[in-house]
Amino acid sequence: MAVPKEVKEEVERLRNLIRKYDYYYYVLNNPLVSDAEYDELKRRLTELERKYPELITPDSPTQRVGAPPRKEFPNVKHSLPMLSLDDARNEEEIREFYERILRLVGGEVDFCIEPKFDGTSLELVYERGVLVRAITRGDGITGEDVTPNAKTIRSIPLRLFEDISIEIRGEVVISKENFRKLNESLIDRGERPFANPRNAAAGSLMQLDSKITASRPLDFIVWGFGMSEVEFKTQSEFLKKTKDLGFKSPEPFTTRDINEILKIYREWENKRDSYEYELDGLVIKVNDVKLWDKLGYTAKSPRWAFAAKFKPRERTTKLLNVVWQVGRTGIITPVAELKPVEIGGVIVSRATLHNVDIVKKLGVRIGDTVIVSRAGDVIPQIIKPIEEARTGEEEDIQIPDHCPVCGGEVALEGPYLKCLNLSCPAKLAASIRHLAKREAFDIEGLGEKTSKLLVSRNIVKDISDIFKLRKEDLIHLPGFSDISAEQLILAINRAKRITLERFLYALGIPGVGEVTAKLLARHFKNLDDLMNVGRFELLRIKGIGPETANAIEKFFKDSRNRESIKKMLEYGVEIISEKVEGPLSGKVFVFTGELDCCPRSVAKKMVEELGGQTADNVSRRVHYLVVGKKPGSKLQKAQKLGITIIDEKEFLRMLEEARKS
Ligand code: IVH
Repeated sequence: MAVPKEVKEEVERLRNLIRKYDYYYYVLNNPLVSDAEYDELKRRLTELERKYPELITPDSPTQRVGAPPRKEFPNVKHSLPMLSLDDARNEEEIREFYERILRLVGGEVDFCIEPKFDGTSLELVYERGVLVRAITRGDGITGEDVTPNAKTIRSIPLRLFEDISIEIRGEVVISKENFRKLNESLIDRGERPFANPRNAAAGSLMQLDSKITASRPLDFIVWGFGMSEVEFKTQSEFLKKTKDLGFKSPEPFTTRDINEILKIYREWENKRDSYEYELDGLVIKVNDVKLWDKLGYTAKSPRWAFAAKFKPRERTTKLLNVVWQVGRTGIITPVAELKPVEIGGVIVSRATLHNVDIVKKLGVRIGDTVIVSRAGDVIPQIIKPIEEARTGEEEDIQIPDHCPVCGGEVALEGPYLKCLNLSCPAKLAASIRHLAKREAFDIEGLGEKTSKLLVSRNIVKDISDIFKLRKEDLIHLPGFSDISAEQLILAINRAKRITLERFLYALGIPGVGEVTAKLLARHFKNLDDLMNVGRFELLRIKGIGPETANAIEKFFKDSRNRESIKKMLEYGVEIISEKVEGPLSGKVFVFTGELDCCPRSVAKKMVEELGGQTADNVSRRVHYLVVGKKPGSKLQKAQKLGITIIDEKEFLRMLEEARKS
């Protein structure tokens, strides 16, 4: 049966629309339509393709997932070698590279400066606009064909906006935020977390089952090209062109002035923490493509480009001891005490070892020299011991056979060691600490020390007791004064009004992190409904798996938890609706850079308390960008979109006004 013309046309129209919406959503971070509208287009396209399978093409938006798992990745030769870069490690070396290039060219040279993304490189081969192959770097000559996996990355176009043949090279990356979330869920499932965003990107891309890759929030950012039927005069022109083709690519900076290059290097090193992706430096390239051949290549790298590396985020230090910390669920976590070492501007003296399995897999011993990494805002981790540095004096890590706090019995639950004593004081102290966290009740002054103190003095016997504390309970405790006792009570009272989402997170239900708490709050709207729900209903929520559903059901069935919640409400905890109506209602704020007044989370809370909304990224729906010290790339984006930009002073003034109105 021939496919009717109208169907062909509709399919084409749907594909073009979906392509455009994907581009706005995944590349520009600026959704054009609601999820429901988008899903409807996808559903219709799938329906037509099911009815007329002959219409399915490899570049159809429905073809992102679905390839069967592979046994191995086939090897493919790159049409042009994928080279590496020589590194400059400080300003002096940057000058040397710069001067060498000027000497070789015999005059002034324009440079194109780009961020160096810390991920894994990938080449995408497009034939007449259609993605036909994706190849990893491999040894530079031959790579591995990972096409089905690359297709699942939504910022990789399956079809370009122009029908040209070109090899696009770039970096597969994961944002710091997604890296943190991915590790959180891996740890929750008892799996080993990734040491840094680079490993997470590479590990997720190199999965034999592309469904796993599809479940990982990967991104692709362009930095170069291989064979191309289009000629580019300069690297900056190439990068600009890739945006028109449908890619995410960095905003390059061009200059011929070494002082300017060094200034940019310093600026980027300072602001790397607030950047969305992990960067390990800048890449400085001769901008004029004609000069590339003239300058040529060494065996491994081009002479027309070099990496200006930032200070490493991995350092070696000594593992001095391992202590075992009891968490709120009774899980006993090994924590490494390290000889303090500076990593990217932060002194690191502790690192998590996650669980017993990971201790065994790493094979670390006390006294070992170890590699420690600190990526983004993630807790530092030990990557591995340096076995060659062993002296024979190192000692095995002893896994405790009793709870280090209460002396109670312990048992292994999967990779986790757990204290079986239901009333272990360490569990209660950890639950209080969790409940008071910034993302939960946000009670300033209720840290680890105070939580432990309140439990050990028997002042708090259940988490709900926090909300009936009086100044008199605190005033005589060590470390408390009249003022600090009053401040803590004030902070507790202020925290009592809380959104459902934060409340659910605060309860510390196993497997319910911030993301799941949000899903639950959105689905149930009120606590009563959720408290009486069964796991089958929970399983209907996208993003909640069987283990979490079981844990939630079990938690709310437990009469002790129900009693705690009841008491919290009795003591004045009030669950407020997510959307507060207020003078800032309808206004969306985004923050960039550091604020003097308070941490960003507090600034966000202040906006929300006045009815405003906050977002993490700049898009057209944002009204104000609040700019602090050392702003990130959001500033440029906001300028481009014509969003109102205000500084901290102006922001505080607005809040003040809003509060008055
Ligand atoms: S240019 C011949 N530009 O860094 C040119 N590479 O250390 C080779 N990388 O293999 C690379 N961001 O995976 C270039 N803006 C950027 C980059 C970048 C990240 C990676 C890339 C490369 C490695 C070299």
